[in-house]
Amino acid sequence: MKLLLIGKTGQLGGDILRNDTGHEIVAPDRQILDVTRPDSVATALLEHRPDAVVNTAAFHNVPLCEVDYSEAFRINCAAVRDLAVACREAGALFVTFSTDYVFGGEKRTPYLEDNRPAPLQMYGISKLAGEFAALSAAPDHAIVIRTCGLYGISGANSKGGNFVDKRIRDAKASTPLEMGCDQVVSPTWTGDLSRAVLQLIAHPSLRPGVYHLINEGECTWYDFTKEIYRILGLNIVVRPVDRKGLTGAMRRPLYSALANTKACALGITLPHWRDSLERYLRAKIATGPERP
Ligand SMILES: NC(=O)c1ccc[n+]([C@@H]2O[C@H](COP(=O)([O-])OP(=O)(O)OC[C@H]3O[C@@H](n4cnc5c(N)ncnc54)[C@H](OP(=O)(O)O)[C@@H]3O)[C@@H](O)[C@H]2O)c1
Repeated sequence: MKLLLIGKTGQLGGDILRNDTGHEIVAPDRQILDVTRPDSVATALLEHRPDAVVNTAAFHNVPLCEVDYSEAFRINCAAVRDLAVACREAGALFVTFSTDYVFGGEKRTPYLEDNRPAPLQMYGISKLAGEFAALSAAPDHAIVIRTCGLYGISGANSKGGNFVDKRIRDAKASTPLEMGCDQVVSPTWTGDLSRAVLQLIAHPSLRPGVYHLINEGECTWYDFTKEIYRILGLNIVVRPVDRKGLTGAMRRPLYSALANTKACALGITLPHWRDSLERYLRAKIATGPERP
């Protein structure tokens, strides 16, 4: 397949580019293809004539979405709708990404693709609106992939890096570390996610709709932090703190682990989060400047 990738400097986009083995990928710079400029999307589709457009762009700094919600809706919903329309008209598959934050956290077992969303904050609301926008504008062409707690080599610019790298930096500080034990999530390495995405979009039995893709298992950010330091052999004291899902007045779901039910049915599975974290850290130690 020929893929038009949006967001190549990001965590997921970067790994899709690095880990692709069988597709032809074109990945224009953001200055050339900006999802908020439909003319740039139309030009790219005309120029490259891709079989699929893979959109990893998002406005996903969650607290900032509360303040600048018009920008959140512009990138996470309106731009997604415009991309979906352009793909439908060009006859291209449209692949876009959503989040565990579309759920409200009332469950205690992993959310399935068809569970009822109930987002608690503007980020989740704008991403859920983007899901509807994609699926209603291009019902025969749109694939929405929900994922959770991403970390990858590139780090998310809008969040000042990824969670794992921030904990490696914290380990060098002398102040005691407090980590949330209130939210249960499925942390996911974009290395594994990118390979699963590439498998999914090329699958002969792929149908339009919503899919979940996350590393297996669930944990709190406190558990995840302890595991980072255990793998690295660092003896760092971490105190669990229960923030009850609150950042100021903004609420996050207390439980948002996902189940990869539909992808698994196609034979696409991801490793357990502990396994992926270990491989990410091993690669990081071997190559990265942030060696603890
Ligand atoms: N990160 C998470 O924990 C998480 C969790 C659940 C779901 N997701 C979803 O997964 C997807 C990928 O997340 P990620 O962490 O890989 O994101 P990321 O690292 O922040 O990457 C986003 C990419 O999109 C680009 N971009 C932003 N605005 C754009 C625009 N207007 N036009 C074109 N490109 C634009 C960014 O460019 P710049 O480098 O120039 O900013 C960057 O390359 C997103 O849909 C996100 O909502 C993420």
